[in-house]
Amino acid sequence: MKKEIIALYPGSFDPLTNGHLDIITRASRLFPTLIVAITKNLNKNHLFSLEDRIDMLKESVSDMHNVKVVSFSGLLANYFDEMKANVLIRGLRAVSDFEYEFQMALMNRNLNANFETVFLMPDQDYTFLSSSMIKEIAMLGGDTKDFVPACVEKKLKQIKKQNQ
Ligand code: COA
Repeated sequence: MKKEIIALYPGSFDPLTNGHLDIITRASRLFPTLIVAITKNLNKNHLFSLEDRIDMLKESVSDMHNVKVVSFSGLLANYFDEMKANVLIRGLRAVSDFEYEFQMALMNRNLNANFETVFLMPDQDYTFLSSSMIKEIAMLGGDTKDFVPACVEKKLKQIKKQNQ
């Protein structure tokens, strides 16, 4: 039995939503240490810079004392060992998430036999949220305040203003 379990929650967080925050809150209650790892995903065109994504995450988890925010590049399977993690956290919003997540969990376990993925379900109020949807709503002038933390809403408004 492991004494100190380190959980790792990776993602693009472009931007962080209340759904991600719900998963972070749940994981931080279950595990003594939670590392939220923000990736530069080369296949994705991010709206927010890595620095902005880190800042928004740090601000949003500032009251969760066992949560650390970091960034990483490269293979998650290697980073998992580098951080001495025991558990990978992923959120499952709906059955449609399952196929991709299942494939990724098994691929990661093939790459690294230590890999264990734990899936958490967000509150049902957040099952319809996605970062792309939030970005689209914000850039078209819609209200995102019920879907993202206040610091994210503020940044979305700034970007919309800059793009006008
Ligand atoms: N609430 C709201 N939205 C959620 C959510 C939740 N609880 N959980 C997932 N999402 C959404 C995100 O908003 C995002 O939406 P979008 O597609 O509209 O932007 C989408 O689900 C997926 O985002 P995310 O959870 O950030 O995952 P990702 O696919 O961007 O990144 C990594 C997943 C980081 C784990 C993966 O890219 C990775 O491992 N990268 C490293 C390279 C590597 O090792 N590759 C091999 C993997 S086998």
